[in-house]
Amino acid sequence: MIKTLAVAASLATALTSVAIAQDSLNGLVVGFSQIGSESGWRAAETSVTKQQAEERGIDLKFADAQQKQENQIKAIRGFIAQGVDAILVAPVVATGWEDVLTEAKEAEIPVILLDRGVDAPEDLYLTSVASDQVKEGRVAGDWLVNAVGTEPCKVVELQGTVGSTPAINRKQGFEEAIKGHDNITIARSQTGDFTRAKGKEVMEGFIKAENGGADICAVYAHNDDMAVGAIQAIKDAGLKPGTDIKVVSIDGVPDIFSAMVAGEANATVELTPNMAGPAFDALAAYLKDGTEPAKFIITESKLYTPADNPQGEYDTRKGLGY
Ligand code: AHR
Repeated sequence: MIKTLAVAASLATALTSVAIAQDSLNGLVVGFSQIGSESGWRAAETSVTKQQAEERGIDLKFADAQQKQENQIKAIRGFIAQGVDAILVAPVVATGWEDVLTEAKEAEIPVILLDRGVDAPEDLYLTSVASDQVKEGRVAGDWLVNAVGTEPCKVVELQGTVGSTPAINRKQGFEEAIKGHDNITIARSQTGDFTRAKGKEVMEGFIKAENGGADICAVYAHNDDMAVGAIQAIKDAGLKPGTDIKVVSIDGVPDIFSAMVAGEANATVELTPNMAGPAFDALAAYLKDGTEPAKFIITESKLYTPADNPQGEYDTRKGLGY
């Protein structure tokens, strides 16, 4: 009985402190510099961030950078001039942030990075909420290694935006996974800029260059949208995606699960669109009593294949803003 009361009391204290921490964001103004809307995943991140802000009573100032770093820098400078309480930024590329992050620091405005990293000193941002992108590439590569066994396999790779951390890291992770498996080679690799249209266009070029696609064993796309574009290109070439050419990608958007249901995609590595929830929790604790969050808050990277009820996964995700 005493033990039960003690547990109840400590639970109540914990819940109260979470509530106080949450309350500390009520009425705050937070600027969010978003990259754009290049992918279904990005659209979902935008909508989840707005929803997470609303639940906490945050006044979120949203700026869409249309894929341009210069627009992001302009937006951040605008947020600083307005004197916002905090800034969220999803950095389109890794380099070129030091000046503007220093300006935010000098204005004593905490900055939180969402879903991508920067090449800048770590003291210029409060925390970074993102996946382990090298691991994502490794999970995708490990899946392929297991799927092909000792069969020879020529892979074509659709890279993300040039200079972005997911493009750099997902490439590295995949290469690490296939290293030592000499039957698997990356025959061609080009950017598809994380978009469906570019993914399709680049895949069409790969197919032409590789004997009408007959020589391609698998496509590895750094996101699902490019994979969906590639699937269309494979079908247009008269081949069967998922069978003639294996399709492995990253994000876990509803459309890749429908492709799995149709037998046209083989594997995806899930990336949660809820980066803002952990970011706001870290901000609340920091503003309440100065608690420094971990510098890197890492989200999960789970593999999904057709064995994982893709119809159910589609149903769970559709309507979440993808
Ligand atoms: O930074 C995360 C990546 O950006 C997502 O995987 C991709 O879909 C998006 O555009």
